[in-house]
Amino acid sequence: MTALTNTNILLGITGGIAAYKTPDLVRKLKAQGANVRVVVTESAKAFVSPLALQGVSGNTVSDDLLDPAAEAAMGHIELARWADLLLIAPATANTMAKLTHGLADDLLTTLCLATSAPIVLAPAMNQQMWAASATQANLEVLRARGVSFLGPDQGEQACGDVGPGRMMEPEDIAMALAETRQIQQTLSGKTVVITAGPTREHIDPVRYMSNHSSGKMGFAIADVAQKMGANVKLVSGPVNIDFPEVSHIDKVNTAQEMLDAVMNQIDDCDIFIGCAAVADYRPTESVDHKIKKSNIELTLTFVRNPDILATVAANENAPFTVGFAAETQNVAQYARDKLQRKKLQLIAANDVSQKDIGFNSDQNALTVYWADGEQSLPKSSKSEQAKQLLEIIIERYNNEQN
Ligand code: C5P
Repeated sequence: MTALTNTNILLGITGGIAAYKTPDLVRKLKAQGANVRVVVTESAKAFVSPLALQGVSGNTVSDDLLDPAAEAAMGHIELARWADLLLIAPATANTMAKLTHGLADDLLTTLCLATSAPIVLAPAMNQQMWAASATQANLEVLRARGVSFLGPDQGEQACGDVGPGRMMEPEDIAMALAETRQIQQTLSGKTVVITAGPTREHIDPVRYMSNHSSGKMGFAIADVAQKMGANVKLVSGPVNIDFPEVSHIDKVNTAQEMLDAVMNQIDDCDIFIGCAAVADYRPTESVDHKIKKSNIELTLTFVRNPDILATVAANENAPFTVGFAAETQNVAQYARDKLQRKKLQLIAANDVSQKDIGFNSDQNALTVYWADGEQSLPKSSKSEQAKQLLEIIIERYNNEQN
């Protein structure tokens, strides 16, 4: 039994050279226990034979919206309903553009509009076409609508170019699908805004005040929430790690910029998770020129930064608000105090005095508190902590909605 066992996968193949790999992709999906039906576009047929795809899938290949015989056998609406998942591999730049605009000028694009199943794209195209601003803008729109992407991979391309644009290998696509199916789509249709990383507060044009936050915990939460089907909007301070694939990313520096970015996203937000280590203070004066060495002592004065979490929680239509508490002592007491004072629904606390967890570490051990309960999560990877934390958040969130 795998996560794809008995999953109905509708595989859409569009016209790119990587289409020649799709009979192998069908075999790999079937090897994981999936039922596969194939839809090809007109141009895909130039690269792969429908007869070969029929042979490996065990089902008739569909290619025409207006074919009376095919419609009588399994009509397009029926096919759209049959699918648990619609995978387009390879997905060309043209298909991405059509999906962005909701075109329905062939069977595959019609199915994309007619299905309620999650849509996953494995793009394949020349690296310049992938980098083109139109394609990147389409990618952002599709992601924001909840479409997931696998790849593209880096490497040598059929045209001789080298760069991102190769379709992920069939085996990797099948594995990645199985992995995402393992995570229940419990946040489907929800918008989750997450802050992560440190903030930098400028002292002068070359110096700043910051902290040791790596962004790892917030990024892990963003990654898992997106895989649970949420529309994740990540607001990140400056970090040195790879960004997760989420619907929207805002990169900011200061606490004020972070607050502005969060408030821009807050209107349609269902759950807000403040994971960032926001600097509590910033220098009172923003100096335009580098401060020169002169006296033995230098005195800087600071003013309080806005509290992003408390501002969100105090909002008239406040989302379900989750905070973090990084403490070095009296963890439970400080966390509960913060929960009440900032009017949060839930707070996740960790003891940052323990060297093997917390800041910069790949591991963590959170204790989660809410008004009438608490739960400690045993030490594990930040991505496992993220999964368990989100499960608690979802349970509490659903409780509040009922
Ligand atoms: O009060 P303290 O800084 O310990 O609270 C930590 C929690 O508050 C974290 O969730 C952090 O993201 C949030 N916070 C904030 N804005 C601040 C300070 C903290 O959102 N200015």
